[in-house]
Amino acid sequence: MNDKLALPVGTTLDRFIMRKQEDFPFATGELSQLLRDIALAAKIVNREINRAGLIDVTGAYGQQNVQGEEQQKLDVIANIRFIRALRNGGEVCAIISEEEDEIIHTGNLKGKYIVAIDPLDGSSNIDVNVSIGTIFSIYRRVSEVGTEGTMEDCMQNGTHQIAAGYVVYGSSTMLVYTTGHGVNGFTYEPSLGEFFLSHPNMCTPKTGTIYSCNEGGYNSFPEGIKNYLSYCKENGYSGRYIGSLVSDFHRNLIKGGVYIYPSTAKAPNGKLRLLYECNALAFIAEQAGGKASNGKGRIMEMEPTELHQRSPLIIGSAEMVDKVEEFMKAEVKKTEAVTAN
Ligand code: AHG
Ligand code: MN
Ligand code: MN
Repeated sequence: MNDKLALPVGTTLDRFIMRKQEDFPFATGELSQLLRDIALAAKIVNREINRAGLIDVTGAYGQQNVQGEEQQKLDVIANIRFIRALRNGGEVCAIISEEEDEIIHTGNLKGKYIVAIDPLDGSSNIDVNVSIGTIFSIYRRVSEVGTEGTMEDCMQNGTHQIAAGYVVYGSSTMLVYTTGHGVNGFTYEPSLGEFFLSHPNMCTPKTGTIYSCNEGGYNSFPEGIKNYLSYCKENGYSGRYIGSLVSDFHRNLIKGGVYIYPSTAKAPNGKLRLLYECNALAFIAEQAGGKASNGKGRIMEMEPTELHQRSPLIIGSAEMVDKVEEFMKAEVKKTEAVTAN
């Protein structure tokens, strides 16, 4: 029979995770299970997002999160779904979430892992049918197994991540993750209810011609960023800004580009959260051959001092991130020279 009549459907996420586990002879399978728990919650959240508009899940929830941001109903739903999946899975002893004031103890004292999560990223785009996402980081606990997870477990710098990923709920839904051995992307096939490997070994171009930045804050950007933006314009780059970090990052990862969220008058330390957003994407960017900086140094080496800490973020193609840093450092040098005189 003609083979084309029955082409294989491909590698499911579950099988891929299982196969990868065999690459680590001493792995016990807990991390694999944890990744599967996240994938399950992502499928449920995907279902809720797809039905938004038909059922009453759009709009504001009527409360603010700890960061003073208006929570959307889907922010709350996604938060509940991920926390429940992680709690039921049993591998995680503590969770920190953008939507929760404090550390969440799951009650799984034997769980070896900590998860940091932005359950729904890009919430201002929920009501208008524009791509949104989920971002997660996984750390191994430093406290003793058998006890409750601690703040110290949660406040590790990004170099300690053992896995990180994101889900983009877009024109198709994708899950992209790394365990520190490259980056792989999976596309959701809704009729089968499975993620299939669609983007093996993702590598980001060294450079590109896309810059992504909300230029509404331009007047209060650091001079170095303003100069870089002029450089982009002088060189005919394309400006592309969705306003959902995951989606902007995902596009730039594939096409080559740089995403910039600098400090502004409204957000003097930048807007994006180090533990829920910056670290995970920095790990993925680096694993794909890109870079992530706060303008002065590597995102993943920043020592967290508080759960909801923010940071400026410059992330994407390596040469473009280097260029932005160059512009920023040139400005610092100029200011130093002026103060010295
Ligand atoms: P969240 O919805 O998780 O609070 O994140 C929103 C973030 C990020 O997704 C996006 O890149 C950025 O906020 C957009 O901010 P501006 O509206 O200031 O551009
Ligand atoms: Mn976010
Ligand atoms: Mn969010």
